[in-house]
Amino acid sequence: MSVRSAASVAASPCRQGSGSSVANRARIAASILDADLGNLANAVRRVVAAGVDRVHLDVMDAHFVPNLTFGAKTIKALRPRTTVPFDAHLMVAEPGRYIDEYLDAGCDSITFHVEIEEPIAPTLEAIRAGGRAAGLAVKPGTPLSALEPYAELLDIVLLMTVEPGFGGQAFMADVLEAKAAGARQLLKKLYGGEIHVDGGINRETAEFAGSHGVDVLVVGSALFVRGRDMGREVRLIRALADEGFQYGPNEGKPPIANDQMTRFTSLPKHLAHRLMEEIEATGIPVMMLRGDGQVNPDGVRDYDLLVPATVEEHIIDAHGRTREALLAEATAWRASFPSKV
Ligand code: DX5
Ligand code: ZN
Repeated sequence: MSVRSAASVAASPCRQGSGSSVANRARIAASILDADLGNLANAVRRVVAAGVDRVHLDVMDAHFVPNLTFGAKTIKALRPRTTVPFDAHLMVAEPGRYIDEYLDAGCDSITFHVEIEEPIAPTLEAIRAGGRAAGLAVKPGTPLSALEPYAELLDIVLLMTVEPGFGGQAFMADVLEAKAAGARQLLKKLYGGEIHVDGGINRETAEFAGSHGVDVLVVGSALFVRGRDMGREVRLIRALADEGFQYGPNEGKPPIANDQMTRFTSLPKHLAHRLMEEIEATGIPVMMLRGDGQVNPDGVRDYDLLVPATVEEHIIDAHGRTREALLAEATAWRASFPSKV
């Protein structure tokens, strides 16, 4: 992560249309499958204006599912319309054959189905090699164990709670109940791994989904009900999901927002860099900010190291000893300067 001044971090505006304020944990991904397919640019504009965190793009090839929607060229045409991340959900028989087109189209994440016939690992590897998040989706009837061989390659596990192919179907609560905990176990990443739930999410089912710890709720038809205030629907669903999380797995504690950072320590610049590199080597982002703490004998103030609050406990367990050693080294380093008196 770059070294930034405290001022720049404090001032950094939320990306336009990037959805929730920092207080929310749940993220909403709008599926535009039930929008006016004759004017997808307008559908993207509307969901972004409604404050969604992601745009969920349902690609269907009329082979893997009995429906046909749009492909990489359409996604590429939509890309310039917003900076909000694009999550592609490929319900296609041969994702590997076309994966470069989806990378080129500007998808931020690409999720395809574990039920396909072609090899899976090479496509996951290609997505990651393209610097994007790689995901596997499971149909309601597919056991989660089908994902196990690929666990090391996953950034996203997408749990289908309807049969893929169409929007507006009824939510399969039993499927989420059966798979949510196992999906979390599958994700090996310490930070950044996401569980997506896709199908039948609305204000009636959001709290239940949140209570199973999902990170991203895909919402389609519930947003495109004629005459409904889309922004209000997004806020309601996000809030209900957070309530479900708070009074479910979080035992009544308010959820930690995904982008909330917390100060881990303050050190002289050269020592702060060392600790930042050790933590970032494990895939966890760190922010190093010029602090307002003590000025060192070399005239440079200590730097603060900020880490994601959601993984603070893990970081203390894994890097606390290094922190203590570097704090001791900092004291010795300061003492090594000739006193000014
Ligand atoms: C279905 C798609 C879903 C669907 C969600 O195959 O993968 O993303 O569009 O739509 P709703 O929210 O209406 O179930
Ligand atoms: Zn989908």
